[in-house]
Amino acid sequence: MTTARIKDILAASPNEKEITARGWIRTARDSKDFCFVELNDGSCLANLQVFIDKKDSRLAALLPRLSTGASLEATGALVKSPKPEQPVELRARTILVRGEAPGEYPLQKKRHSFEFLREIAHLRPRTNTFGAVTRVRNALSFAIHSFFQERGFLYVQTPIITASDCEGAGEMFQVTTLPLDKPPLIGGAIDYAQDFFGKKTSLTVSGQLEGEIFACALGNVYTFGPTFRAEHSQTSRHLAEFWMVEPEMAFCDINGDMDAAEAFLKYIIGRTLEALPEDMKFFDQWVDKGRLAMLERVVGSTFTRITYTEAIDALLKAKEPFEYPVKWGIDLQSEHEKYLTEKVYDNPVIITGFPREIKAFYMKLNDDGKTVRAMDVLVPRIGEIIGGSEREDDHEKLRARLRECGLPEKDYWWYLDLRRYGSVPHSGFGLGFERLVQFVTGMQNIRDVIPFPRAYGSAEF
Ligand code: 4AD
Ligand code: MG
Repeated sequence: MTTARIKDILAASPNEKEITARGWIRTARDSKDFCFVELNDGSCLANLQVFIDKKDSRLAALLPRLSTGASLEATGALVKSPKPEQPVELRARTILVRGEAPGEYPLQKKRHSFEFLREIAHLRPRTNTFGAVTRVRNALSFAIHSFFQERGFLYVQTPIITASDCEGAGEMFQVTTLPLDKPPLIGGAIDYAQDFFGKKTSLTVSGQLEGEIFACALGNVYTFGPTFRAEHSQTSRHLAEFWMVEPEMAFCDINGDMDAAEAFLKYIIGRTLEALPEDMKFFDQWVDKGRLAMLERVVGSTFTRITYTEAIDALLKAKEPFEYPVKWGIDLQSEHEKYLTEKVYDNPVIITGFPREIKAFYMKLNDDGKTVRAMDVLVPRIGEIIGGSEREDDHEKLRARLRECGLPEKDYWWYLDLRRYGSVPHSGFGLGFERLVQFVTGMQNIRDVIPFPRAYGSAEF
Protein backbone atom coordinates (compact mmCIF):
# COMPACT_ATOMS: atom_id res chain seq x y z
CA MET A 1 0.00 0.00 0.00
CA THR A 2 1.30 3.45 -0.85
CA THR A 3 0.05 6.87 0.12
CA ALA A 4 0.19 9.34 -2.70
CA ARG A 5 -0.86 12.88 -3.45
CA ILE A 6 -3.96 13.12 -5.63
CA LYS A 7 -1.99 14.95 -8.34
CA ASP A 8 0.18 11.85 -8.79
CA ILE A 9 -2.71 9.43 -8.42
CA LEU A 10 -4.60 11.13 -11.25
CA ALA A 11 -1.55 10.87 -13.48
CA ALA A 12 -1.12 7.14 -12.78
CA SER A 13 -2.52 4.34 -14.92
CA PRO A 14 -5.49 2.31 -13.60
CA ASN A 15 -3.39 -0.68 -12.57
CA GLU A 16 -5.78 -2.10 -9.95
CA LYS A 17 -3.04 -1.70 -7.31
CA GLU A 18 -4.08 -0.69 -3.84
CA ILE A 19 -3.36 2.85 -2.75
CA THR A 20 -4.39 5.25 -0.02
CA ALA A 21 -5.57 8.78 -0.73
CA ARG A 22 -6.04 11.41 1.93
CA GLY A 23 -7.95 14.64 1.73
CA TRP A 24 -11.13 16.60 2.30
CA ILE A 25 -14.51 15.86 0.77
CA ARG A 26 -15.65 18.47 -1.74
CA THR A 27 -18.95 16.73 -2.54
CA ALA A 28 -20.58 13.41 -1.87
CA ARG A 29 -23.23 12.06 -4.27
CA ASP A 30 -25.46 9.28 -3.12
CA SER A 31 -27.40 6.95 -5.40
CA LYS A 32 -29.32 3.77 -4.69
CA ASP A 33 -26.41 1.34 -4.78
CA PHE A 34 -23.33 3.53 -4.77
CA CYS A 35 -21.87 6.71 -3.33
CA PHE A 36 -19.29 8.92 -5.06
CA VAL A 37 -17.01 11.13 -3.00
CA GLU A 38 -14.96 13.89 -4.64
CA LEU A 39 -11.75 14.09 -2.65
CA ASN A 40 -9.29 17.00 -2.78
CA ASP A 41 -5.92 17.24 -1.05
CA GLY A 42 -4.67 20.58 -2.41
CA SER A 43 -1.98 19.02 -4.59
CA CYS A 44 -3.95 20.03 -7.68
CA LEU A 45 -7.23 21.53 -8.76
CA ALA A 46 -8.85 18.23 -9.75
CA ASN A 47 -10.53 15.89 -7.28
CA LEU A 48 -10.11 12.15 -7.03
CA GLN A 49 -13.38 10.28 -7.30
CA VAL A 50 -13.78 7.67 -4.60
CA PHE A 51 -16.30 4.97 -5.47
CA ILE A 52 -18.15 3.41 -2.54
CA ASP A 53 -20.21 0.28 -3.03
CA LYS A 54 -23.09 0.30 -0.56
CA LYS A 55 -23.30 -3.48 -0.67
CA ASP A 56 -20.32 -3.42 1.67
CA SER A 57 -22.13 -2.87 4.95
CA ARG A 58 -19.06 -1.47 6.75
CA LEU A 59 -18.71 1.24 4.13
CA ALA A 60 -22.45 1.87 3.97
CA ALA A 61 -22.47 2.50 7.71
CA LEU A 62 -20.02 5.37 7.21
CA LEU A 63 -22.16 7.28 4.70
CA PRO A 64 -23.83 9.66 7.18
CA ARG A 65 -20.35 10.86 8.18
CA LEU A 66 -19.17 11.47 4.60
CA SER A 67 -20.33 15.06 4.21
CA THR A 68 -18.75 18.05 2.47
CA GLY A 69 -15.71 19.24 4.42
CA ALA A 70 -15.01 15.96 6.25
CA SER A 71 -11.46 14.59 6.12
CA LEU A 72 -10.73 10.98 5.35
CA GLU A 73 -8.25 8.36 4.27
CA ALA A 74 -9.54 6.03 1.59
CA THR A 75 -7.78 2.82 0.65
CA GLY A 76 -8.61 0.70 -2.35
CA ALA A 77 -7.74 -0.24 -5.89
CA LEU A 78 -7.03 2.37 -8.51
CA VAL A 79 -9.32 1.47 -11.40
CA LYS A 80 -10.33 2.90 -14.75
CA SER A 81 -13.10 5.43 -14.37
CA PRO A 82 -16.23 5.02 -16.49
CA LYS A 83 -16.31 8.82 -16.89
CA PRO A 84 -14.28 10.00 -19.90
CA GLU A 85 -13.15 13.26 -18.22
CA GLN A 86 -11.32 11.45 -15.43
CA PRO A 87 -8.93 8.60 -16.16
CA VAL A 88 -8.98 6.83 -12.81
CA GLU A 89 -11.01 6.44 -9.65
CA LEU A 90 -10.41 4.79 -6.33
CA ARG A 91 -12.67 1.86 -5.52
CA ALA A 92 -12.82 2.03 -1.73
CA ARG A 93 -12.08 -1.07 0.35
CA THR A 94 -11.71 0.76 3.65
CA ILE A 95 -12.37 4.34 4.68
CA LEU A 96 -11.10 6.03 7.79
CA VAL A 97 -13.03 9.18 8.63
CA ARG A 98 -10.53 11.47 10.34
CA GLY A 99 -12.70 14.48 11.03
CA GLU A 100 -16.39 14.98 10.42
CA ALA A 101 -17.82 18.28 9.20
CA PRO A 102 -21.30 18.97 10.52
CA GLY A 103 -24.00 20.58 8.39
CA GLU A 104 -23.06 24.12 9.40
CA TYR A 105 -19.71 23.80 7.57
CA PRO A 106 -19.64 27.15 5.72
CA LEU A 107 -18.33 25.93 2.36
CA GLN A 108 -21.43 24.08 1.21
CA LYS A 109 -22.37 26.00 -1.89
CA LYS A 110 -20.34 25.61 -5.07
CA ARG A 111 -19.48 29.32 -5.38
CA HIS A 112 -19.17 31.89 -2.62
CA SER A 113 -18.36 35.57 -3.03
CA PHE A 114 -14.72 36.53 -2.47
CA GLU A 115 -15.91 39.01 0.18
CA PHE A 116 -17.55 36.22 2.14
CA LEU A 117 -14.49 34.01 1.79
CA ARG A 118 -12.31 36.78 3.24
CA GLU A 119 -14.36 36.52 6.44
CA ILE A 120 -13.48 32.83 6.69
CA ALA A 121 -9.81 33.06 5.76
CA HIS A 122 -9.18 29.94 7.85
CA LEU A 123 -11.32 27.87 5.47
CA ARG A 124 -10.87 29.60 2.11
CA PRO A 125 -7.69 27.63 1.26
CA ARG A 126 -10.14 24.72 0.79
CA THR A 127 -11.81 26.40 -2.18
CA ASN A 128 -10.80 25.86 -5.80
CA THR A 129 -9.88 29.50 -6.32
CA PHE A 130 -7.80 29.97 -3.23
CA GLY A 131 -6.10 26.62 -3.67
CA ALA A 132 -5.13 27.66 -7.19
CA VAL A 133 -3.97 31.11 -5.97
CA THR A 134 -1.78 29.39 -3.38
CA ARG A 135 -0.21 27.12 -5.99
CA VAL A 136 0.42 30.13 -8.25
CA ARG A 137 2.11 31.99 -5.37
CA ASN A 138 4.30 28.96 -4.80
CA ALA A 139 5.20 28.53 -8.49
CA LEU A 140 6.01 32.24 -8.84
CA SER A 141 8.18 32.21 -5.71
CA PHE A 142 10.10 29.22 -7.01
CA ALA A 143 10.55 30.88 -10.43
CA ILE A 144 11.77 34.08 -8.75
CA HIS A 145 14.51 32.21 -6.90
CA SER A 146 15.35 30.19 -10.05
CA PHE A 147 15.71 33.33 -12.16
CA PHE A 148 18.19 34.93 -9.77
CA GLN A 149 20.02 31.76 -8.80
CA GLU A 150 20.57 30.80 -12.45
CA ARG A 151 22.17 34.22 -12.94
CA GLY A 152 24.43 34.12 -9.88
CA PHE A 153 22.50 36.59 -7.70
CA LEU A 154 22.87 36.04 -3.96
CA TYR A 155 19.74 35.87 -1.83
CA VAL A 156 20.22 38.32 1.07
CA GLN A 157 17.86 38.54 4.04
CA THR A 158 17.36 42.20 4.89
CA PRO A 159 15.91 43.31 8.24
CA ILE A 160 12.22 43.65 9.05
CA ILE A 161 12.80 46.14 11.87
CA THR A 162 14.67 49.22 10.73
CA ALA A 163 15.60 52.71 11.86
CA SER A 164 15.50 54.25 8.34
CA ASP A 165 12.64 55.15 6.03
CA CYS A 166 13.69 53.88 2.58
CA GLU A 167 10.96 55.60 0.61
CA GLY A 168 11.06 58.70 2.80
CA ALA A 169 7.29 58.83 2.63
CA GLY A 170 6.67 58.54 6.37
CA GLU A 171 4.25 55.65 5.95
CA MET A 172 5.84 53.40 8.55
CA PHE A 173 4.46 51.27 11.36
CA GLN A 174 6.35 52.07 14.50
CA VAL A 175 7.87 49.28 16.58
CA THR A 176 8.11 50.10 20.28
CA THR A 177 8.01 48.57 23.73
CA LEU A 178 7.42 51.92 25.44
CA PRO A 179 4.19 52.12 27.45
CA LEU A 180 1.81 53.84 25.04
CA ASP A 181 -0.37 55.24 27.79
CA LYS A 182 2.60 56.84 29.58
CA PRO A 183 5.71 57.10 27.38
CA PRO A 184 8.86 58.62 28.93
CA LEU A 185 9.27 62.24 27.89
CA ILE A 186 12.24 64.47 27.40
CA GLY A 187 11.63 68.15 26.79
CA GLY A 188 7.97 67.40 25.98
CA ALA A 189 8.81 64.79 23.30
CA ILE A 190 8.96 61.00 23.61
CA ASP A 191 12.36 59.86 24.82
CA TYR A 192 13.24 57.09 22.38
CA ALA A 193 16.60 56.60 24.06
CA GLN A 194 14.56 54.58 26.57
CA ASP A 195 12.90 52.46 23.88
CA PHE A 196 13.93 48.86 23.18
CA PHE A 197 16.56 49.71 20.57
CA GLY A 198 17.57 53.02 22.10
CA LYS A 199 16.09 54.84 19.14
CA LYS A 200 12.88 55.14 17.13
CA THR A 201 12.30 52.06 14.92
CA SER A 202 9.68 50.83 12.47
CA LEU A 203 8.76 47.93 10.21
CA THR A 204 10.57 48.19 6.90
CA VAL A 205 8.88 49.59 3.77
CA SER A 206 11.61 48.11 1.54
CA GLY A 207 14.82 46.11 1.81
CA GLN A 208 16.51 48.24 -0.82
CA LEU A 209 18.93 50.29 1.25
CA GLU A 210 20.35 47.20 2.94
CA GLY A 211 20.31 45.43 -0.45
CA GLU A 212 22.54 48.21 -1.78
CA ILE A 213 25.08 47.54 0.98
CA PHE A 214 25.42 43.94 -0.17
CA ALA A 215 25.37 44.76 -3.90
CA CYS A 216 28.22 47.20 -3.28
CA ALA A 217 30.29 44.30 -1.94
CA LEU A 218 29.04 41.17 -3.67
CA GLY A 219 27.77 42.38 -7.04
CA ASN A 220 24.28 41.11 -7.69
CA VAL A 221 21.90 40.34 -4.84
CA TYR A 222 18.18 40.13 -4.17
CA THR A 223 15.84 40.17 -1.23
CA PHE A 224 12.36 38.67 -1.13
CA GLY A 225 10.49 39.43 2.04
CA PRO A 226 7.57 41.12 3.72
CA THR A 227 7.28 44.91 3.66
CA PHE A 228 4.87 47.15 5.51
CA ARG A 229 3.19 50.43 4.63
CA ALA A 230 0.82 52.39 6.82
CA GLU A 231 -1.01 53.89 3.85
CA HIS A 232 -4.66 54.63 4.47
CA SER A 233 -5.53 53.04 1.11
CA GLN A 234 -8.64 51.00 0.60
CA THR A 235 -7.95 50.18 -3.04
CA SER A 236 -7.94 46.79 -4.74
CA ARG A 237 -4.14 46.99 -5.21
CA HIS A 238 -2.85 48.16 -1.82
CA LEU A 239 -2.04 46.13 1.27
CA ALA A 240 -0.48 47.25 4.54
CA GLU A 241 1.65 44.09 4.58
CA PHE A 242 2.87 42.77 1.25
CA TRP A 243 5.82 40.87 -0.14
CA MET A 244 8.42 42.48 -2.33
CA VAL A 245 11.20 41.09 -4.53
CA GLU A 246 14.12 43.49 -4.74
CA PRO A 247 17.22 42.79 -6.81
CA GLU A 248 20.15 45.19 -6.59
CA MET A 249 22.94 45.17 -9.18
CA ALA A 250 26.37 46.77 -8.98
CA PHE A 251 27.94 48.27 -12.12
CA CYS A 252 24.48 48.51 -13.65
CA ASP A 253 22.78 51.63 -15.03
CA ILE A 254 19.12 52.39 -15.66
CA ASN A 255 19.16 50.60 -19.04
CA GLY A 256 20.53 47.42 -17.47
CA ASP A 257 17.89 47.79 -14.79
CA MET A 258 15.09 47.92 -17.36
CA ASP A 259 16.53 44.94 -19.25
CA ALA A 260 16.67 42.94 -16.02
CA ALA A 261 13.11 43.84 -14.99
CA GLU A 262 11.71 42.89 -18.40
CA ALA A 263 13.59 39.57 -18.61
CA PHE A 264 12.62 38.78 -15.01
CA LEU A 265 8.90 39.41 -15.44
CA LYS A 266 8.70 37.39 -18.67
CA TYR A 267 10.68 34.50 -17.16
CA ILE A 268 8.68 34.12 -13.97
CA ILE A 269 5.31 34.36 -15.73
CA GLY A 270 6.45 31.93 -18.45
CA ARG A 271 7.68 29.42 -15.86
CA THR A 272 4.39 29.59 -13.98
CA LEU A 273 2.31 29.06 -17.12
CA GLU A 274 4.40 25.96 -17.83
CA ALA A 275 4.23 24.65 -14.27
CA LEU A 276 0.50 25.07 -13.67
CA PRO A 277 -1.47 24.60 -16.92
CA GLU A 278 -4.55 23.28 -15.13
CA ASP A 279 -4.74 26.11 -12.58
CA MET A 280 -4.11 28.72 -15.27
CA LYS A 281 -6.91 27.28 -17.40
CA PHE A 282 -9.15 27.54 -14.35
CA PHE A 283 -8.40 31.28 -13.93
CA ASP A 284 -8.90 31.83 -17.65
CA GLN A 285 -12.28 30.13 -17.55
CA TRP A 286 -13.71 31.24 -14.21
CA VAL A 287 -11.95 34.41 -13.11
CA ASP A 288 -10.97 36.39 -16.18
CA LYS A 289 -11.64 35.15 -19.71
CA GLY A 290 -8.72 35.80 -22.04
CA ARG A 291 -6.15 36.15 -19.25
CA LEU A 292 -4.09 33.22 -20.54
CA ALA A 293 -3.75 34.63 -24.06
CA MET A 294 -2.85 38.04 -22.60
CA LEU A 295 -0.14 36.54 -20.40
CA GLU A 296 1.27 34.50 -23.29
CA ARG A 297 1.42 37.70 -25.31
CA VAL A 298 3.26 39.50 -22.50
CA VAL A 299 5.80 36.67 -22.22
CA GLY A 300 6.51 36.92 -25.95
CA SER A 301 6.46 40.72 -26.14
CA THR A 302 9.11 43.43 -26.15
CA PHE A 303 8.06 45.99 -23.56
CA THR A 304 7.43 49.52 -24.79
CA ARG A 305 9.89 52.03 -23.28
CA ILE A 306 8.94 55.69 -23.01
CA THR A 307 9.91 58.71 -20.97
CA TYR A 308 7.68 60.33 -18.39
CA THR A 309 7.37 63.35 -20.70
CA GLU A 310 6.16 61.11 -23.54
CA ALA A 311 3.69 59.48 -21.16
CA ILE A 312 2.28 62.87 -20.16
CA ASP A 313 2.00 63.90 -23.83
CA ALA A 314 0.08 60.70 -24.63
CA LEU A 315 -2.26 61.29 -21.69
CA LEU A 316 -2.85 64.92 -22.66
CA LYS A 317 -3.93 63.75 -26.13
CA ALA A 318 -6.34 61.22 -24.62
CA LYS A 319 -10.08 61.71 -24.97
CA GLU A 320 -10.56 59.93 -21.66
CA PRO A 321 -12.19 61.91 -18.80
CA PHE A 322 -9.59 61.25 -16.09
CA GLU A 323 -10.55 61.80 -12.48
CA TYR A 324 -7.08 63.25 -11.77
CA PRO A 325 -6.11 66.03 -14.22
CA VAL A 326 -2.91 65.51 -16.22
CA LYS A 327 0.02 67.91 -16.41
CA TRP A 328 3.79 67.57 -16.37
CA GLY A 329 4.89 67.06 -12.78
CA ILE A 330 2.00 64.95 -11.49
CA ASP A 331 2.46 61.53 -9.98
CA LEU A 332 0.76 59.07 -12.35
CA GLN A 333 -2.45 57.62 -10.93
CA SER A 334 -3.65 54.09 -11.49
CA GLU A 335 -6.17 55.31 -14.10
CA HIS A 336 -3.34 56.96 -16.09
CA GLU A 337 -1.13 53.90 -15.87
CA LYS A 338 -3.87 51.57 -17.04
CA TYR A 339 -4.79 53.88 -19.90
CA LEU A 340 -1.20 53.95 -21.14
CA THR A 341 -0.61 50.22 -21.01
CA GLU A 342 -4.10 49.11 -22.14
CA LYS A 343 -5.25 51.79 -24.58
CA VAL A 344 -2.26 53.71 -25.92
CA TYR A 345 0.37 50.97 -26.23
CA ASP A 346 -1.60 47.74 -25.66
CA ASN A 347 1.60 46.30 -24.22
CA PRO A 348 3.62 46.38 -21.00
CA VAL A 349 5.23 49.82 -20.71
CA ILE A 350 8.37 50.98 -18.92
CA ILE A 351 8.44 54.69 -18.07
CA THR A 352 11.70 56.45 -17.19
CA GLY A 353 12.82 59.98 -16.39
CA PHE A 354 10.32 61.04 -13.72
CA PRO A 355 10.35 64.53 -12.17
CA ARG A 356 12.64 64.52 -9.15
CA GLU A 357 9.96 66.06 -6.92
CA ILE A 358 7.70 62.99 -7.04
CA LYS A 359 10.38 60.35 -6.54
CA ALA A 360 12.47 59.07 -3.61
CA PHE A 361 15.72 60.72 -2.46
CA TYR A 362 18.00 57.87 -3.57
CA MET A 363 17.29 58.08 -7.31
CA LYS A 364 20.08 59.27 -9.58
CA LEU A 365 19.62 62.76 -10.92
CA ASN A 366 19.71 63.16 -14.70
CA ASP A 367 21.96 65.79 -16.30
CA ASP A 368 18.90 68.02 -16.89
CA GLY A 369 18.71 68.47 -13.09
CA LYS A 370 14.93 68.08 -13.36
CA THR A 371 14.38 64.36 -13.75
CA VAL A 372 15.67 61.21 -12.08
CA ARG A 373 16.65 57.81 -13.48
CA ALA A 374 13.59 56.09 -12.13
CA MET A 375 11.66 53.42 -13.96
CA ASP A 376 8.16 52.04 -13.44
CA VAL A 377 6.92 48.93 -15.23
CA LEU A 378 3.21 49.07 -16.03
CA VAL A 379 1.08 46.11 -17.06
CA PRO A 380 -2.53 45.93 -18.25
CA ARG A 381 -5.27 45.78 -15.54
CA ILE A 382 -2.77 46.45 -12.73
CA GLY A 383 -0.78 49.54 -13.68
CA GLU A 384 2.51 49.80 -11.77
CA ILE A 385 3.85 46.36 -10.91
CA ILE A 386 7.55 47.25 -10.59
CA GLY A 387 9.26 50.42 -9.38
CA GLY A 388 13.01 50.90 -9.57
CA SER A 389 15.88 53.20 -10.41
CA GLU A 390 19.55 53.79 -10.86
CA ARG A 391 20.79 54.97 -7.46
CA GLU A 392 22.53 58.27 -6.81
CA ASP A 393 26.17 57.24 -6.44
CA ASP A 394 27.63 60.74 -6.01
CA HIS A 395 28.22 61.59 -2.36
CA GLU A 396 27.57 65.33 -2.59
CA LYS A 397 24.51 65.04 -4.82
CA LEU A 398 23.03 62.49 -2.43
CA ARG A 399 23.63 64.78 0.56
CA ALA A 400 21.88 67.57 -1.29
CA ARG A 401 18.92 65.31 -2.07
CA LEU A 402 18.60 64.21 1.55
CA ARG A 403 18.50 67.86 2.62
CA GLU A 404 15.97 68.67 -0.09
CA CYS A 405 13.74 65.82 1.09
CA GLY A 406 14.02 66.89 4.73
CA LEU A 407 15.76 63.65 5.75
CA PRO A 408 18.42 63.95 8.49
CA GLU A 409 21.89 63.07 7.18
CA LYS A 410 22.87 61.45 10.47
CA ASP A 411 20.25 58.72 9.98
CA TYR A 412 21.76 57.79 6.62
CA TRP A 413 25.48 58.00 7.51
CA TRP A 414 26.10 54.40 6.47
CA TYR A 415 24.21 54.89 3.20
CA LEU A 416 26.36 57.94 2.47
CA ASP A 417 29.49 55.93 3.34
CA LEU A 418 28.76 53.61 0.38
CA ARG A 419 29.30 56.74 -1.77
CA ARG A 420 32.51 57.67 0.05
CA TYR A 421 34.26 54.33 -0.24
CA GLY A 422 34.42 52.60 -3.61
CA SER A 423 31.16 54.02 -4.95
CA VAL A 424 29.82 52.31 -8.08
CA PRO A 425 26.94 52.96 -10.41
CA HIS A 426 24.22 50.57 -9.29
CA SER A 427 20.55 49.95 -9.87
CA GLY A 428 17.67 47.85 -8.70
CA PHE A 429 13.93 47.52 -8.57
CA GLY A 430 11.06 46.23 -6.46
CA LEU A 431 8.33 43.93 -7.69
CA GLY A 432 5.14 43.89 -5.63
CA PHE A 433 4.57 40.16 -5.27
CA GLU A 434 0.81 40.36 -4.67
CA ARG A 435 0.32 42.65 -7.66
CA LEU A 436 2.17 40.04 -9.69
CA VAL A 437 -0.15 37.30 -8.39
CA GLN A 438 -3.12 39.48 -9.32
CA PHE A 439 -1.71 39.98 -12.78
CA VAL A 440 -1.16 36.26 -13.32
CA THR A 441 -4.48 35.06 -11.89
CA GLY A 442 -6.77 37.92 -12.92
CA MET A 443 -8.05 38.22 -9.35
CA GLN A 444 -9.66 41.65 -8.93
CA ASN A 445 -8.82 42.34 -5.31
CA ILE A 446 -5.33 42.12 -3.86
CA ARG A 447 -6.84 40.85 -0.58
CA ASP A 448 -7.76 37.65 -2.38
CA VAL A 449 -4.22 36.73 -3.43
CA ILE A 450 -2.46 36.77 -0.04
CA PRO A 451 -3.14 34.17 2.67
CA PHE A 452 -4.09 36.65 5.39
CA PRO A 453 -4.59 40.20 4.13
CA ARG A 454 -3.66 43.16 6.30
CA ALA A 455 -5.12 46.39 4.99
CA TYR A 456 -6.25 49.69 6.46
CA GLY A 457 -8.89 48.88 9.09
CA SER A 458 -8.64 45.12 8.73
CA ALA A 459 -6.39 42.45 10.24
CA GLU A 460 -8.54 39.47 11.16
CA PHE A 461 -6.76 36.14 11.83
O1 4AD B 1 7.58 51.62 -6.12
P1 4AD B 1 7.91 51.16 -4.74
O2 4AD B 1 7.47 51.99 -3.62
O3 4AD B 1 9.49 50.96 -4.75
C1 4AD B 1 10.28 50.66 -3.70
O4 4AD B 1 9.90 50.37 -2.60
C2 4AD B 1 11.73 50.58 -4.05
N1 4AD B 1 12.50 50.67 -2.80
C3 4AD B 1 12.00 49.31 -4.80
C4 4AD B 1 13.45 49.18 -5.22
O5 4AD B 1 13.89 49.89 -6.08
N2 4AD B 1 14.16 48.24 -4.66
O6 4AD B 1 7.35 49.70 -4.52
C5 4AD B 1 7.69 48.64 -5.40
C6 4AD B 1 6.46 47.85 -5.80
C7 4AD B 1 5.41 48.66 -6.53
O7 4AD B 1 5.72 48.78 -7.89
C8 4AD B 1 4.18 47.83 -6.28
O8 4AD B 1 4.10 46.73 -7.17
C9 4AD B 1 4.41 47.28 -4.89
O9 4AD B 1 5.79 47.36 -4.64
N3 4AD B 1 3.69 48.02 -3.86
C10 4AD B 1 2.61 47.56 -3.21
N4 4AD B 1 1.94 46.40 -3.31
C11 4AD B 1 0.89 46.21 -2.50
N5 4AD B 1 0.47 47.11 -1.58
C12 4AD B 1 1.12 48.29 -1.43
N6 4AD B 1 0.71 49.16 -0.51
C13 4AD B 1 2.24 48.56 -2.28
N7 4AD B 1 3.09 49.60 -2.40
C14 4AD B 1 3.97 49.24 -3.36
MG1 MG C 1 6.47 53.08 -7.06
